[in-house]
Amino acid sequence: MRHHKLALCAEHYGEWFVAQTERAIEKYRMFSRDERVLVAVSGGKDSLALWDALLRLGYHADGLYIALGINDPIPYSDASLEKTRKFVDSGEWRVAKDDAPLAPRPTLYIVDIPAAYGKTIPEIARAKMRGQGRPCAACGLTKRYVMNRLALEKGYTVLATGHNLDDEIAVLFQNTLRWQTGYLARQAPVLPASREGLVKKVKPFCRFYERETATYALARSIDYIYDECPHAGGNLTNFYKTLLNQLETESPGSKLSFYLEFLRARGEGAFEQFNRVEELHACELCGQPTSAPERCAFCRMWNVSRIVE
Ligand code: AMP
Ligand code: FES
Ligand code: ZN
Repeated sequence: MRHHKLALCAEHYGEWFVAQTERAIEKYRMFSRDERVLVAVSGGKDSLALWDALLRLGYHADGLYIALGINDPIPYSDASLEKTRKFVDSGEWRVAKDDAPLAPRPTLYIVDIPAAYGKTIPEIARAKMRGQGRPCAACGLTKRYVMNRLALEKGYTVLATGHNLDDEIAVLFQNTLRWQTGYLARQAPVLPASREGLVKKVKPFCRFYERETATYALARSIDYIYDECPHAGGNLTNFYKTLLNQLETESPGSKLSFYLEFLRARGEGAFEQFNRVEELHACELCGQPTSAPERCAFCRMWNVSRIVE
């Protein structure tokens, strides 16, 4: 790890990684050991590594997998669910760090979108968002909604995602290029539950390079899905990641400093004036907070009000 001037063997790397995770959780006051954390797991390296690290640290962390029905041209959703199930069944997470108590078997919630709402993500995108090309907008909207709603309904106070440094700076770069000050004001390792009906959102891996989370998954023999979503190819985020990797090659450490300096400026209030508190009210169908006048964007797209586990 050139940017940390550190070289470690697999075992010590795993310890370093878990300790760094704990430091981030404490530094940004993400959650305590008394809180119930719901980890959004996609079957990829970041979210499985996150679930593993939280369990080893002795946190009460359960998982949520959202089956999106993206199985064409490759069985992406089915294969990711299989990896997620395998992680829980393998019991790998039982190896606790130091003297942390062994975690009981965590719960995995599965929300199957096509079974619950009658359409896969590509199908609903084709039906409702015609002309927009990729299904990613419909997918993102659905995932955000289901994550918040399930966490609330099952009594979790915190929702954790596996976003890493590379993910965060790609978004930061995009928002900076367009000077989307409102988004910049809201981009943070912790998004507090600003209102009833919203859970706190945290990103404990926001300071880890993607390579670092992949290395941890490897060191811990976590079997994860290597494939990207088949709809992600050639998207703008990946283009920005490539650009930022070129920058990192020329100037090691610049990805981390871009992010940390942004957080410093944000902490000093540089974007405070753009942090507009949105007027939210309960969706008339599902009750979730929304800025839309009647039904929330999810209910308008899916035209349903129930959630099925
Ligand atoms: P992505 O937007 O695919 O880069 O994923 C960012 C984070 O969202 C992941 O690290 C997971 O925590 C979460 N996530 C993505 N896809 C799913 C899914 N199908 N089910 C549950 N969580 C997900
Ligand atoms: Fe949602 Fe690819 S993961 S469209
Ligand atoms: Zn609604």
